[in-house]
Amino acid sequence: MSGPQKGKNGDMEQTYCMIKPEIVAAADQQVGAVLAILNRAGFRITGLKMKQLDRATVEHFYGEHAGKPFYGDLCDYIAGGPVVAIRLERENAVAALRELIGATNPADAAVGTVRDLFGASLQNNAVHGSANLEDAARELEIVFG
Ligand code: CMP
Repeated sequence: MSGPQKGKNGDMEQTYCMIKPEIVAAADQQVGAVLAILNRAGFRITGLKMKQLDRATVEHFYGEHAGKPFYGDLCDYIAGGPVVAIRLERENAVAALRELIGATNPADAAVGTVRDLFGASLQNNAVHGSANLEDAARELEIVFG
């Protein structure tokens, strides 16, 4: 049996992408450029909002990283200004978005990926993309309800 949300080849999926505060705050704000890259890659944008997440929400969102050395700084940074929250739909959306945004560290991100183009550092890496279908559902619920 196949159906939505299975994560198999060809299945229509939803995933979550978040343009991080340093991009939203920058003088040359590249929000439109990121959205264009997503559309060109075949994603439909089915939810979109600019929103400042409070720290408790960010702590919950990044709960899997609690206790790691970068967790406190990460929560301060993400809660420190508005993000652009994007709900995306496409076949194999989760894996396709991960490929499109590139490695977590922009220094390791493949040429032409979003983090290669717009990422500044391991922390300030321009965008977040859900790691798997379960995270996608959880993150979309946190941000979009
Ligand atoms: P993201 O994909 O949003 O997931 C967790 C975030 O933590 C990551 O992108 C970076 O912004 C940030 N981060 C900071 N330091 C590290 C690290 N050493 N390893 C992974 N993520 C890190």
